[in-house]
Order: sequence, then structure tokens, then C-alpha cells
Amino acid sequence: MDQAAKIKLHISGKTYEIECDPDETVLEAALRQDIDAPYSCMSGTCNACQAKVVAGKVEMETCEALTPEEVESGECLTCQAHPTTNSIELRYPI
Ligand code: FES
Repeated sequence: MDQAAKIKLHISGKTYEIECDPDETVLEAALRQDIDAPYSCMSGTCNACQAKVVAGKVEMETCEALTPEEVESGECLTCQAHPTTNSIELRYPI
């Protein structure tokens, strides 16, 4: 993506609408905009930042913490995920 993508996040019963710059991950965009999104390692190995993509698409830089089946069903590591569509929607398990 060479332009900011719109992201809708569902976390702990709240919904946030933010923008994700082209060089940011979904997690970086959330933290920059003061959203209390869960994370730990920031390197794709722990799955603390996991969320499910319910609309749009993302691409992950690395993904050691999810099985291919989880990725296939839409799960992603937000610390590694970049939107590849103009808008995406993610639901956290918390
Ligand atoms: S914070 Fe550990 S995998 Fe994203």
C-alpha cells in the first residue's frame, strides 16, 4: 500500500477507527493512536497480539506463532501485519 489504510479494531467490547500509514504495522498504528492493543514480543513469535481479520486483507512480514490453518482462517499477528486493502477490520479475542 502506498497510502494510509483505514482500520477498524474491535478490542474489549470497544470499536476504534484509525489509519495505518504505509510503513506501519497494524499494531504500530494502534499504539501510535493511543489504543491499548495487546502485544509482547513485537517480533512475530509469541501471539499476544493476535487478532482475526474479519474484513479486508493483511500481509505478514513473519509469522512463527500461528499455524497455516489459523492464517487460513483469518488470524494474524498484528505486530507483523500490513494492510493490503484500503480498509480492514480486525477482531481481538479479548
Ligand atoms: S507481539 Fe508477539 S507475535 Fe506480535
